Amino acid sequence: MANKWNPQLYDTKHAFVYQYGESLLELLAPAPGERILDIGCGTGALTRQLSNAGAEVAGIDKSPEMIEAARAAFPGLEFHVMDAAGFQFNKPFDAIFSNATLHWVPEQEQAVQCMAAALKPGGRMVVEFGGKGNVETVIKQIRKTLQEHGYDAQAARQFWYFPSISEYSSLLERNGFEVALAQLYDRPTPLADSENGITDWINMFGGTFFEDIEAAERQSLIAEIQEALRSSCYHDGGWWADYRRIRVVARRLPIALSGNL
Ligand code: BEZ
Repeated sequence: MANKWNPQLYDTKHAFVYQYGESLLELLAPAPGERILDIGCGTGALTRQLSNAGAEVAGIDKSPEMIEAARAAFPGLEFHVMDAAGFQFNKPFDAIFSNATLHWVPEQEQAVQCMAAALKPGGRMVVEFGGKGNVETVIKQIRKTLQEHGYDAQAARQFWYFPSISEYSSLLERNGFEVALAQLYDRPTPLADSENGITDWINMFGGTFFEDIEAAERQSLIAEIQEALRSSCYHDGGWWADYRRIRVVARRLPIALSGNL
């Protein structure tokens, strides 16, 4: 099921997605002259920061709308419409960076294999995305409300990948990476709109749950979900989502070291 992205809505209401990515950039510590790939670059804000650090960058995103917006905003940078689970480059990278993207990729084994193939031996990957238990309060309420209205098939949909540390580290290790750091941490996230934060969030990110539900019914269900979440997700004058992040730093082993010794 495809998610169609709206770059304007993303930048005005969901800029926190890349603003939180700035601490991940510090962990990557891009050096001048390094060749770095940004997977899931969105509208290109973090790709530009990598470039500002002196790196030679390429940004990829599955959404043509996002890549069009990124190219318009940063015409000097290299951007491609490519899938995180099916990309290929001729010239290898020193590092791979990815913020808030990999939870959208169902084919995780292929994504990790693409990353391994795109990195130089010894190259590093620094990634962060939704980890085990991510936005669980919101997701549980979406499923509950859908079920209460008889939408059992929609309620059962699984389209995000939120792994535990052991699950993702094992995946990396069996594909030739050595994991240097893995963290799973709570990052409660304020949503931009103090009136309709949950509604906006679901419209932006959770559309797959509602794809075959007629528009008026869909908006009424989403309003009901937001109201049901008020006691747990509305405080301090605004809406919050219970984000949990998995943050991983790993190095691609030289081929001779990646198998059993
Ligand atoms: C996240 O960044 O964790 C996320 C964003 C949208 C949907 C699901 C998770």
